[in-house]
Amino acid sequence: MAETLTIRRPDDWHLHLRDGAVLKAVLPETARHFARAIIMPNLVPPVVTGAQAAAYRQRILGALPMGLDFEPLMTLYLTEDTDPKDVKAAAEVGIVTAVKLYPAGATTNSASGVRDFDKVRSVLETMAQIGLPLCVHGEVTDPEVDIFDREAAFIDRILDPIRRATPGLRVVMEHITTHDGIDYVKSQGDDMGGTITAHHLVINRNHILVGGIKPHYYCLPVAKREEHRQALVAAATSGDAHFFLGTDSAPHVDALKEHPCGCAGCFTATNTLSVLAEVFERQDALDRLEAFTSLHGPAFYGLPPNADTITLARGTPVAYPAKIDTDDGPVTIFDPGFPLHWRVTP
Ligand code: DOR
Ligand code: ZN
Repeated sequence: MAETLTIRRPDDWHLHLRDGAVLKAVLPETARHFARAIIMPNLVPPVVTGAQAAAYRQRILGALPMGLDFEPLMTLYLTEDTDPKDVKAAAEVGIVTAVKLYPAGATTNSASGVRDFDKVRSVLETMAQIGLPLCVHGEVTDPEVDIFDREAAFIDRILDPIRRATPGLRVVMEHITTHDGIDYVKSQGDDMGGTITAHHLVINRNHILVGGIKPHYYCLPVAKREEHRQALVAAATSGDAHFFLGTDSAPHVDALKEHPCGCAGCFTATNTLSVLAEVFERQDALDRLEAFTSLHGPAFYGLPPNADTITLARGTPVAYPAKIDTDDGPVTIFDPGFPLHWRVTP
């Protein structure tokens, strides 16, 4: 068995960095291993305009420790009032790489998201014309729909109709959690991609609920049945270029996770690559890890893969800390529940 693995430096195609004290604490955890990341815009208030994205980008670069190279790829938060001209101008000057669609009420800070999809038609058409991708949180918010069925319902009710109505629009179905999502993305052309998180490759819904409720495993879309987790592992390790890493690393301080109404999100930036290497090794697919972490994402976004490499080494289990400290309080690092033998070497 290979004891080291050298791959192109990975990128993270879905990341929450937050702002202020949490940004300062979590950014190095990503920048240590990843060259670029698609930065989620669900701040309070959200990043809606090109000017706000430019200002947020500056705050991220300002929080980057000396000696770390990292390129934040900014997104705009799509609202029913988004101005297609602002989107186009921000894309043209290179300040934004994608637009994010949150159905209103689907997840953390999504209240300003979209209720009436007809109201964003002109933005979607502009994006199709200029080749700007749409990143989608794929869950319906209809209270009648069971939370475990919300992703599958979204495909039929919203995603597929948007795709049919907007030919040429490049779409990423983010953090896929079901075999329905995998099958749909696979059935589409190369203008459709799908991101998969490390935590959804590891946990199913039993991990959240059996033997006591585990708030640090609660995220959205919520983890589903084991058969769905297995479909995600099969897709991520298959070499199919539709699928690439988007960690959805989503820090919340422990006080807000361990709470009667706990926030959704798993913080995985610190150990994502160790977790992925373990998952891929178990599938005998370490030779496909690089494609998932470092090649398929840039290809979808029309960007070159990173020129430099990282090396993972196999050895005795890595002792990651349980938490990182921030000036707002500790943030718990995702615990996969099994030993991690692969570490990124300096
Ligand atoms: O678990 C999640 N956390 N899912 C999301 O869609 C949002 C994210 C967050 O911002 O905390
Ligand atoms: Zn997210």
